[in-house]
Amino acid sequence: MPDWNALRPEVEAVALRAGEETLRYFRKPLAQWTKAGPFDVVTEADKASEAVILPALRALLPEAALLSEESGASGDEGGLRWVVDPIDGTANFAAGMPYYSISIALADVAGQPVIGVVHNPAYGELFSAALGGGAALNGEPIHVSATPALAQSILLGGFSIYPELAKPQLRQWMALMQRTRGLRRMGSAALDLASVAAGRADGYWESSLSPWDVLAGLLLVQEAGGRISDFAARPDKLYSAKEMAVTNGAIHDELLAALAAAGDQGGL
Ligand code: IPD
Ligand code: CA
Ligand code: CA
Repeated sequence: MPDWNALRPEVEAVALRAGEETLRYFRKPLAQWTKAGPFDVVTEADKASEAVILPALRALLPEAALLSEESGASGDEGGLRWVVDPIDGTANFAAGMPYYSISIALADVAGQPVIGVVHNPAYGELFSAALGGGAALNGEPIHVSATPALAQSILLGGFSIYPELAKPQLRQWMALMQRTRGLRRMGSAALDLASVAAGRADGYWESSLSPWDVLAGLLLVQEAGGRISDFAARPDKLYSAKEMAVTNGAIHDELLAALAAAGDQGGL
């Protein structure tokens, strides 16, 4: 197995440079426009961050393919691939809210992330992991929480804007708000996963995400000792990003049972 840990500091440096670039635009007048629909915003800062990241990653590993949210895919997908979200949490960023991140993953041919870096420049926090090398926050090892039961947990979640998902999602939130200490919708999936890895939240769930939202964060959770599955407990769907149930391990079965119960509820 290549020494992914050796490459990790170089990827961290790229994320730090991109983070500095985003801060030049943060809480200043910002050019922004919509993409797929009226709520799908992108800004000049997303583009500027990507313009820092992509050439730097190409220089690091010229043979690797690239998938980045704002520029799409390039290169031969039969090998290593960088998966990049230049700003995760653009709606927060554009509103001047500091909960946003830069997410960079390197995935192997099977789609397994081998390096994952999630950086929040506004908080000065850099989360990173390498496969088999552990997870860290600003260089210090991190681990998932020891919270033993759903009733004591804080969960992070997200909403998809697809209309057909509105009711199922609301059913999930209703079921979980009655079984947990608290639910939070923060607005950056990558940072949510980093928060689970760091033991600040006990779990996270969301549907209909894209690989660039989750790949780096999933490796953080994996290396920090957490458990990842889809809502039916299948780990093999891990990197499709269509259903993410991510926990400290101890509350995983309870979370899946609550999500299943929500699916059975009528009413909404
Ligand atoms: C979004 C964030 C958000 C999640 C959305 C994503 P973006 O990413 O991760 O938390 O709920 O589904 O699209 O658009 O800010 O890169
Ligand atoms: Ca994103
Ligand atoms: Ca984005």
